[in-house]
Amino acid sequence: MIVDDEEFHHLNNPADGIKPIVKKYLGVPNHAEQKGNKFFFTDGDASVEVTIVTKEIIRIRLAPHSVFLDEFSYAVSELPTKAVAFNLSETDLEFKVSTEAVNCHIRKQDFFISFSDNNGVITSSDATPMHWEENVKFGGYYVFCTKTCAPEESFFGLGDKATEFNLRGKRLKNWNTDAYSYGWNQDPLYRSIPFYISVNEGIAHGIFFDNTFKAHFDFGGEDQTKTSFWADGGELQYYYIHGPHMMDVVKNYHILTGTHPMPPLWALGYHQCRWSYYPENKVRVIANGFRQNKIPCDGIYLDIDYMDGYRCFTWNPKYFPNPRKMIEDLAANGFKTVVIIDPGIRVDDNYSVFKEGKEKRYFCRRSDDYFMEGHVWPGRCQFPDFTNPEVRTWWGGLFDELVDLGVAGVWNDMNEPAVFGSGTFPDDVRHQYDGFRGSHRKAHNVYGMQMVRATYEGLRKQMKNKRPFTITRAGYAGVQRYSSVWTGDNVASWEHLKIGNVQLQRLSVSGISFCGTDIGGFSGEPDGELFTRWIQMGTFSPFMRAHSAGDTKEREPWSFGEPFTTINRKFIELRYRLLPYLYSAFWEHHRYGFPILRPIVMHEQETVANHFRQDEFTYGDKILICPVLEPGKTSRMVYLPKGKWYHFWSLEMVEGGQEVHVATPLDTMPIFVKAGSVIPEYPVMQYTSEKPIEEVKLNIYYSDYEVNSFLFEDYGETFAYEQDIYLEKKFIVNGTAKTMSIKQSMEGLYTPRYEGYHIKINGLPFKPSKIIADGKEIKEVSVNPDKTYEFKFSKNFKQIEILK
Ligand code: GLC
Repeated sequence: MIVDDEEFHHLNNPADGIKPIVKKYLGVPNHAEQKGNKFFFTDGDASVEVTIVTKEIIRIRLAPHSVFLDEFSYAVSELPTKAVAFNLSETDLEFKVSTEAVNCHIRKQDFFISFSDNNGVITSSDATPMHWEENVKFGGYYVFCTKTCAPEESFFGLGDKATEFNLRGKRLKNWNTDAYSYGWNQDPLYRSIPFYISVNEGIAHGIFFDNTFKAHFDFGGEDQTKTSFWADGGELQYYYIHGPHMMDVVKNYHILTGTHPMPPLWALGYHQCRWSYYPENKVRVIANGFRQNKIPCDGIYLDIDYMDGYRCFTWNPKYFPNPRKMIEDLAANGFKTVVIIDPGIRVDDNYSVFKEGKEKRYFCRRSDDYFMEGHVWPGRCQFPDFTNPEVRTWWGGLFDELVDLGVAGVWNDMNEPAVFGSGTFPDDVRHQYDGFRGSHRKAHNVYGMQMVRATYEGLRKQMKNKRPFTITRAGYAGVQRYSSVWTGDNVASWEHLKIGNVQLQRLSVSGISFCGTDIGGFSGEPDGELFTRWIQMGTFSPFMRAHSAGDTKEREPWSFGEPFTTINRKFIELRYRLLPYLYSAFWEHHRYGFPILRPIVMHEQETVANHFRQDEFTYGDKILICPVLEPGKTSRMVYLPKGKWYHFWSLEMVEGGQEVHVATPLDTMPIFVKAGSVIPEYPVMQYTSEKPIEEVKLNIYYSDYEVNSFLFEDYGETFAYEQDIYLEKKFIVNGTAKTMSIKQSMEGLYTPRYEGYHIKINGLPFKPSKIIADGKEIKEVSVNPDKTYEFKFSKNFKQIEILK
């Protein structure tokens, strides 16, 4: 029988005739009120709150009937508390709330909200007043914000979207999804990062729409003059983040949502994964394969088959009879063991994790109080409610045995959450939501983040002062505080290499710098060329892990024979050589909020053509990379930002601000180093802690203008850096036609064990007659055929002068 919704609704209803609110727009603001750093404006019914967060960040909230929801956010754990100067002014036309850097205008005629900088340039403005629509089914509102979209405005961010880097013209959705073998333009994927950056007429600003419900973004897609974002519930709450540079926006976004903690150094090495390496002997064979082939590797992963019937926190006694011994032996051979954990807990009264979770009511329930049950790898499962702090503590504690066995890292998978058949949980599943309660509609996008948070916090407690390593598939804004991420189940295709290259840059500007793809492609079979090109790109992914599905052929760096093995080794060795550089870039991220991968637009946002460049990017600040993304390519064009660059392999100097033609034989890829850089290098090791570092190589590139470089050093595996035990070194390089100077200064409390630097000078335009270090002439200098010069000196030098 078909029930007529309308009639049914009105039957015996005393309020007959009252229609749900279809679309309601803010009216005319008639009143302004201040409470501390908050201003309230109302049209008599609805209210808008404007909060001064910092001088560059202003938050807007809308309450349809002037009742704001409780202030709580998983993304922003705490608003910055530093005092900011601000004021409110009023004219006939508008109310204006201003800080030193930004003005927020509330137009009296129609409640339009806009933002301008201190030069009076309007950077963002409403195209319609904020609005909402009632949903009688769930009780609450769809909430909308529509802003103008300028003719040449570009948009970046939103996490892991598999589409062009510039989001102009796209309509996209945030709803964490298990998207096995996704394709170009498929949306949504695994993560929801409701943060975007606009660049218009050379000025950047960001919008962080902190709403965990299913959310939508339209960047001039439906109407090229409008940009909209809206959500299927919750509060219309967004942060306007001022630039003017994209880098400022990203740094400010990190002030709100945090950065990645420093990883243990080994986590930046090469990692080998597969679904699955088992039994134990297979794991040992793979580990030995690395040592025999002399290919460096620090991490080996155990996928679901290490468990007993896929029960989390158990071991399969047949395949892994003595995990402690295996993990110990692997550790002695330089491998850290990382194990997978899924949220689905098998319904089985003889399984202690299930029993305890059931007794303590830790599993999610439906609205009518039935448990949320669904099938995943173990069969019928129930799922912990990770939005409950007590459940998170319990979950964190479950890792004690694994930590005791020597497990060094935990891979958090299937946490969108994924459920076979239905995709995910039904909407009516209830969540504790840290005491603020919610249905799955509200908790879905944060479920995975809260799972990996529970894992990370548990590991952190149990590993004492050691840095835990975690990786997650799903996440929400702020997940970077707890984990690295990988881009999920990609495919062994050239198209996916390209998707991955864009995804990593996008994640990086969306707060998630510690990211990587499944090198080689998860499903399908790469040939040797594709695998090698992927290893090359992966060498410059902040997280470097090869992974493959169970039904594929062997996929280790030596599986494709020559010439691939040699080339793969060369690049993985390069990864290890550049570790101190990556580690320093990581520090710049952790401490100062810089992303690790920086797309071209981040360097030169004023030029609109750069908004569409998406192949090349810089790795940290000094090294430019352009992966080769097509088969059989013997050369390609690469854009270099303005300034001077050195071709990494030939040392040829190239003028930037243009596209250059670069040869790309399989054993190289386009890599350029900024003139004036000091690139630190470690000796190649088979794993990060194989030998103590006896000397650090400094590759110094001549420049005729001043350039600064950084080197960060600390213990590499403890949290001593939180007590300021680290060393930040700064190098300043400058040169003329007849001289070159390198200055070093340092700050911090850490003393590295090595004594000296091995210095290599590249690109010197003259033949040196003298090299003077801290007043002493250096006599032992090797001169190489490529006109580079090498010598050794103390790590504590203050100044080196090279004279013609
Ligand atoms: C999911 C993961 C994949 C893993 C597999 C088995 O598909 O994304 O990485 O190997 O599950 O655990």
